[in-house]
Amino acid sequence: MKEGRAYEKEGYRYSFDMLGEAAYTAHDAKRYAQSYRDALTAIAAAHPKDGRSIFERPSISVKLSALHPRYEWIKHERVMTELLPLVVALGEQAKANDLALTIDAEESDRHDLMLDFFEAVGEAGALKGWNGLGLAVQAYQKRALPTLTWLTDLARRQQRRIPVRLVKGAYWDTEIKRGQEQGLIDYPVFTRKAATDTSYIACARIMLAAQDAIYPQFATHNAHTVAAIDTLAGNRTDFEYQRLHGMGEALHDLYRDIRKGVGTRIYAPVGSHEDLLAYLVRRLLENGANTSFVNRLADDEAPVDDIIADPVTSLSKEAPLRNPRIPLPADLLPGRKNSAGFVWADPAKSEPMIAAMKTSLETLPTAGPIVSGKETGKNLHDVFDPSDRSRLIGKVAEVTEADVSNALDAACRAQDDWDALKGNARRRYTGTRRQSFRGQQRASYGAGRARGRKDPAKRAR
Ligand code: FAD
Ligand code: 2OP
Repeated sequence: MKEGRAYEKEGYRYSFDMLGEAAYTAHDAKRYAQSYRDALTAIAAAHPKDGRSIFERPSISVKLSALHPRYEWIKHERVMTELLPLVVALGEQAKANDLALTIDAEESDRHDLMLDFFEAVGEAGALKGWNGLGLAVQAYQKRALPTLTWLTDLARRQQRRIPVRLVKGAYWDTEIKRGQEQGLIDYPVFTRKAATDTSYIACARIMLAAQDAIYPQFATHNAHTVAAIDTLAGNRTDFEYQRLHGMGEALHDLYRDIRKGVGTRIYAPVGSHEDLLAYLVRRLLENGANTSFVNRLADDEAPVDDIIADPVTSLSKEAPLRNPRIPLPADLLPGRKNSAGFVWADPAKSEPMIAAMKTSLETLPTAGPIVSGKETGKNLHDVFDPSDRSRLIGKVAEVTEADVSNALDAACRAQDDWDALKGNARRRYTGTRRQSFRGQQRASYGAGRARGRKDPAKRAR
C-alpha cells in the first residue's frame, strides 16, 4: 500500500476522521472535541489555502456521538444547546482555513436528530451559505430518498451547495439486531443487499439531478456501483468518489487512469487502537459478509457474472422483495409474538408521550391500591424523580397487610359467581380471545406441558 503522501501527489483528496464515537462521558466527549480542533490546526498548517474550490480541499469527518454523551433524540434540547455551539465553532475553524467538514451518518435512531442538527448548523450566522458543510446519507435506509429530497430543499433554502456523501451504510447488523431487540414494527434498513444497491443507484440519480443543490460524493468499493455512477454521470466531472483508507485501492487507481477529471477522496481514520476498535469491527463485519463485493471478489469460486450482476434485475426476480430469512421483529420468536417496542427516537411516537409526561408532572398523579373497585390508600407520600431525587413527580399510598387480606377475601367470595359465568361471558370482561389464551399458555409453559395440563379455557366450556 502506498503512503498517504504518495496518494496526495497523485491528486487524491483526504477526509480525516479523528476516531472516536459513542462517548459515554462528558470527559470523553471533550477529549474527542479537542482532537478535532487540533486536527483542523494541523491540516490547515499542512494544507494552506491554495485557491482550490472547497470541494477539492481536505476535510474532516465528524461523528456527533463522539462529541456529546447524549446525542439521542430524547435529549434534543441538550444537543441543540450544548453540542450545536461546539460543532459551529469547529465549522468556523474549518471555514477560516478553507477546509470542509462532513457529518458522518450513524445509527438510524439518530437520523431525525442528525437532520435537525444539520439544518441548525447551516443556519448559524458564521456558516450561512458555506459550501463546506456536508452530510453522509445511507442508501440502506428506507428513508434515504426522502432524506435526499429534504436535503435538496434545505440547500436551496439555505442558499448553499451541500456536499453529500452517499454510502450504503456501516451499521447493517446493528440495525437488524436493534430492530429485533426493540420489537420495532419493521426494520429501518433494507433486508436484501440488492435492495441497498438499487437504492444507492436511485439516490445517485437524485443527487446528480440536483446539480445546483448537491455536490455528490460517492463512497463505495464496489466496481459495479462505480460503473453505474459513471454511466449516470455522463460527461460530468463535478462530483467525486470516496474510499476508505486501505480499501478499494486497485479499483480507484484503475478508474482514475480510465476517467480523468473526477476526484477521489480517501477517508482516513486517525487515532489510537482503543478508538479504532468499533471502526475495525464494522470493517470486519462488512468485508466478512458473503454479500460484500470485496469478499466475493476475493473468492476464486464466485462467478464474475454474479459479482457484477445488475442489482435492479436481481431484485426484480425476488419474491417477496423483502428477505424472508429475516422475519419481522414481531415474528421472531417461535409460538408467540415478540413484544412491541416503543421508539423514543421516532418523534411521531415520542412527542405525544413526552407531552403527556409533562402534563402528568403538572397534575401530580397519585397511585395506590384498589380493592373491590375502591381506592384504599390514605397515607399518601411524595415520590421524587429517581434521576435527581429532588423533582416531585407524584404521590403514592403503599399497600397495607389489611388491603392484601381484604383483596384475597373479596377474590374468594367472587370465585363461585365468576366460575358460573362460563367462558363466553367471562371473555366479555377480560377481552381475551380463546385462541390467544391458549397460545399464551403454550408460549408460557412450552407446548408439551401445555398439552399435559388441563386447559382452563376447555374447562370453562
Ligand atoms: P458492497 O459490498 O457493495 O456493499 C456492502 C453494503 O451493503 C453493506 O455495508 C451494507 O450497507 C449493505 N448490505 C449488506 N448486506 C445487506 C442486506 N442483507 N440487506 C441490505 N443491505 C445490505 N457508513 C456509514 O454508515 N456512515 C458513514 O458516514 C460512512 N462514511 C463512509 C465514508 C467513506 C469514504 C466510505 C468509503 C465508506 C463510509 N461508510 C460509512 C461505510 C460504508 O457504509 C461501507 O463501506 C459501505 O456500505 C460498503 O459498501 P460498498 O459499496 O463498498 O460495498
Ligand atoms: C464508519 O465509521 C466509515 O463512518 C464509517 O464505519
